[in-house]
Amino acid sequence: MIEQQIKTAIRDIPDFPKPGIVFKDITPILKDPQLCVNIVDAFVEKLKGIRIDAVAGIESRGFLFGLTLATRLGVPFVPVRKAGKLPFTIKQKAYKLEYGTATIELHTDAFEPGQHVLIHDDLLATGGTALAASELIQEMGGVVAGFSFVVGLGFLNGKERISPVCDRVVVLAE
Ligand code: PRP
Ligand code: ADE
Repeated sequence: MIEQQIKTAIRDIPDFPKPGIVFKDITPILKDPQLCVNIVDAFVEKLKGIRIDAVAGIESRGFLFGLTLATRLGVPFVPVRKAGKLPFTIKQKAYKLEYGTATIELHTDAFEPGQHVLIHDDLLATGGTALAASELIQEMGGVVAGFSFVVGLGFLNGKERISPVCDRVVVLAE
């Protein structure tokens, strides 16, 4: 049900941002308030029973549902940002993307050592971004509580790449 709603809403944009990439455009989802509510409801349902002390949302599309999800779960939201954006002291990690390279950063006070942090993003492609976030969180003393994504590109095997870190991987539409 939710999977079909998401798949119907998303649009494929061929050759964006580079030739050969089929970009999954989630902006039509954001124009449908009821679908946005349904997405957060589905995450809450599928994450039931998991200890989550904070939600780490990955810039920028991971902010869209990440903050709402954290608020619904009653836990802090912490932004995982691209290099040079966070103003306080940071820890960082470089990683490869389906269409380039990037560096992500977290504030050193984003969470306390031993806390269980859910990694959230809009889309799981190669898993490089989520894996880098999980490594950064673990290096900072956090425990990866799980991963949550609105969409997954199954053919890129991202799930296989991140599940050794934590096998609680929620993907609403694959
Ligand atoms: C996209 C997406 C994920 C990442 C997934 O972000 O939002 O963060 O790529 O790819 P991966 O699984 O291969 O790592 P992007 O870097 O395009 O930034 P944006 O969210 O700001 O558009
Ligand atoms: N992030 C990485 N690959 C992507 C894709 N194909 N569509 C949208 N976002 C992406």
